[in-house]
Amino acid sequence: MQLDQFFQELWQNYTAITPQAERIYELIRAHNGHVVNDHVAFRTFNQSPVNLDALQPCFEKLGYRVFDEYQFPVKKLRAKAFIHEDESFPKVFLSELLLEEFSSGLQAMIKKMLLQANLPAGMDETLFLKGRLWPRPDWNQYRALQAESEYAAWLSVMGFCANHFTVFVNKLPRNDSLDEVIELVQSLGLAMNESGGLIKGNALVGLQQASTLADTLDFEFADGDVHPVKTCYYEFALRYPGEDGNLYQGFVADSADKIFESTHQKLVGL
Ligand code: NI
Repeated sequence: MQLDQFFQELWQNYTAITPQAERIYELIRAHNGHVVNDHVAFRTFNQSPVNLDALQPCFEKLGYRVFDEYQFPVKKLRAKAFIHEDESFPKVFLSELLLEEFSSGLQAMIKKMLLQANLPAGMDETLFLKGRLWPRPDWNQYRALQAESEYAAWLSVMGFCANHFTVFVNKLPRNDSLDEVIELVQSLGLAMNESGGLIKGNALVGLQQASTLADTLDFEFADGDVHPVKTCYYEFALRYPGEDGNLYQGFVADSADKIFESTHQKLVGL
């Protein structure tokens, strides 16, 4: 699949479940003429055949290469960052949940889910256009996953899709400050992720990030219960030049750790 077409379909699937993203995109575009994406993020489990290392070649075949790796010990995740030879394409941030660090109950639930999954015979990037490939969980299973890992619960209902797109604030001709972009987003009445502060990171670490809180959709669980679940969110990144004068292209684990929380459910009231 052509990379342009891949990102176009990915965007369509993403905005279908993340209506806020379309509204934000249109508003920023109206002010700036165009919007460039810094990166797109995906989530998976460290279970064959969908583990990070198995999916890495899907992106390498498209002209991407791994340029950094990150660990998230508290959330029990690891991630790799990919950059394309043509830097006009967004970077890719792919994380995986480290199943062996969770209870045997969670591991069994996820392994069973993946055994029931209708996975394609050969893995390629189109996996991330397919959404949830396993039967929907029931409400109690979802709650059990959520008690141990919001990430696991999110993946169980959302499956393979873009977890977020990210506006590359440096590339905006008019609103090239993160504060201005946040003001635009807030003018739409949308809530921001304030875990670790509204803006995560600083010039010294090379990257400042902010993100909305994920949209909410009603989801019908296997037992017929309908409950709101978190879908996806939009991120905003401002990069700073390193000592070589080029913009820092990497990620900052402490900040990303907080950005992951943009899909956390508020258990109260569910
Ligand atoms: Ni991100």
